[in-house]
Amino acid sequence: MCGIIGYVGQRDAYPLLLTGLERVEYRGYDSVGICTTDGTLHLLKEVGRVEQFKNKRLPGKQGIAHSRWATHGGVSQKNAHPFIAHDAFALVHNGIIENYLELKEELIEKGVVFSSDTDSEVILHLVVGHYQHGPDKNLLAAVQQAVKQLQGAYAFAVLNKDAEEIVAARDGCPLLVGIGERENFIASDATAFIEHTQKVVYVDDFEIVRVTKDALELFDHDGAKKNVSIVEVRGNIEVAQKQGHPHFMLKEIMEQPQTIAETMKVELPRIGRPKRILIVACGTASYAGLLGKYILEKFAKIPVVHETASEFRYQEPLFYPDDLVIAITQSGETADTLAAIRLAKKHGMKTLGIINVRESTIAREVDQVIYTRAGPEIGVASTKAFTAQLIVLYKLAFQLGGKKFEGKGIATLIEETLKLEDRIKEIAQKYVHNNHFLYIGRNLFYPLALEGALKLKEISYIHAEAYPAGELKHGPIALISEDMPTIAICPRHETYEKMFSNIQEIKARQGKIIALASTGDERMREISDDIIYLPKADGLLTPLLVAVALQLFAYHLAALRGCDIDKPRNLAKSVTVE
Ligand code: AGP
Repeated sequence: MCGIIGYVGQRDAYPLLLTGLERVEYRGYDSVGICTTDGTLHLLKEVGRVEQFKNKRLPGKQGIAHSRWATHGGVSQKNAHPFIAHDAFALVHNGIIENYLELKEELIEKGVVFSSDTDSEVILHLVVGHYQHGPDKNLLAAVQQAVKQLQGAYAFAVLNKDAEEIVAARDGCPLLVGIGERENFIASDATAFIEHTQKVVYVDDFEIVRVTKDALELFDHDGAKKNVSIVEVRGNIEVAQKQGHPHFMLKEIMEQPQTIAETMKVELPRIGRPKRILIVACGTASYAGLLGKYILEKFAKIPVVHETASEFRYQEPLFYPDDLVIAITQSGETADTLAAIRLAKKHGMKTLGIINVRESTIAREVDQVIYTRAGPEIGVASTKAFTAQLIVLYKLAFQLGGKKFEGKGIATLIEETLKLEDRIKEIAQKYVHNNHFLYIGRNLFYPLALEGALKLKEISYIHAEAYPAGELKHGPIALISEDMPTIAICPRHETYEKMFSNIQEIKARQGKIIALASTGDERMREISDDIIYLPKADGLLTPLLVAVALQLFAYHLAALRGCDIDKPRNLAKSVTVE
């Protein structure tokens, strides 16, 4: 996590760095900092968001900047990046240096004084030490020496006040260079500079890049020069704006009729029929994967193992020769998902990615990719990426089962679900003071219960738990009281009668029920306290409608509670550390 950006060119660096920072702020927003140079270093860094720097200015045509998601060291001004040494060198870092304590001790023994509690500052002092003791005072050579001592994950950029260059290195965290006219950028993400250039060079792991206003050179850790390959990235700035909506999350919820329709058009590559599928993912993507397991087993008749990537990577997973490992990820950068894919590849497994961000690290590492067409997702809470992932999983399950997924009328059904917004808001208003919620579902609707509860937790900070409804009597039913309403996902489906009984059991214990039910279900209306009638749809499409209704419920509860919906506390959009 953390977002970094750097600029070297002919224009004033500060406004370019500021806009770039706003775009990478989704990666972390605990603190923010900018350092420019015009022969003297100029520094601004504070706890909080980028917007506080809007009316400020720093001179210089070169600089680096950072938005932080705290790992080592609390959220404070002293731990904000950039870090400065000898009033001459500045550094920004994304990632975690695992051996930093050991390195820090060695540096302290040599007399280095640290100004922060971070792991990142260690990199700066290593680089500066090699620079000062090197034969030719060369920043690139100093970085080449320093990276050999680092264990962990990093993308970092360093500059010297007197040299018109930025040197940056990567291992495990995203880093790319934007090539402009007599100016160049480095960043964690191309959106940071997309209005200035769409020409991009992706820096790979174990590569170091030296950027001046007119040149870019790429090296490996041993100093050998590498070929540079430039790619054009697509993207425009409008998608990164709210377009009249109060939050990106709401804008992204509302975009789903289009993003689903677009994803329906995706042509899947030819994928041989595996004997078994392993799905690895995190968070929302993992819940899409769980629903994918149900669908793949039902329609493709292939056994599926669903694993949380952060657990999978440290197990000793059993792989069989004809397995297919599928990674599902919006960002394509999630550290645990990436590690799970690398583990699978190490064992010679075939890998497939279901990914939203083109040319992301995981997209470049898997054998085959299916891109979802959700477009850029800015809100930290994943919404349109989730429904797009489901569409791809449906298509894949049908293709592997020798059929075609029609998804007839799905975009219209989503539009109809969005029209339930006022009703959902009304219910949210009624429950705005509840601090605990239970979400229950069975079969295809259990992953939706998990996803609905996650949405509520992350943006409204309300405690929510999700269970397969059949599990209630094995413990969680003890939680039921008037103060813990249950969101029951109970459209007509094979398990409807079982759900009905579970709901009765809750009612018998004074629990309140908010039911998501099939239109016209009178029986359910009578037993529930509040009901959201879902548009009439084919059973297989109903989970998508449920997803949208639960997104709206979480959104409105959070909005009514005045939460910072697009940038919830403690979170970051792209989780590039473990
Ligand atoms: C979802 O709302 C979350 N913010 C989070 O769980 C997210 O889905 C997870 O971090 C995985 O991200 P990815 O899809 O980019 O891999």
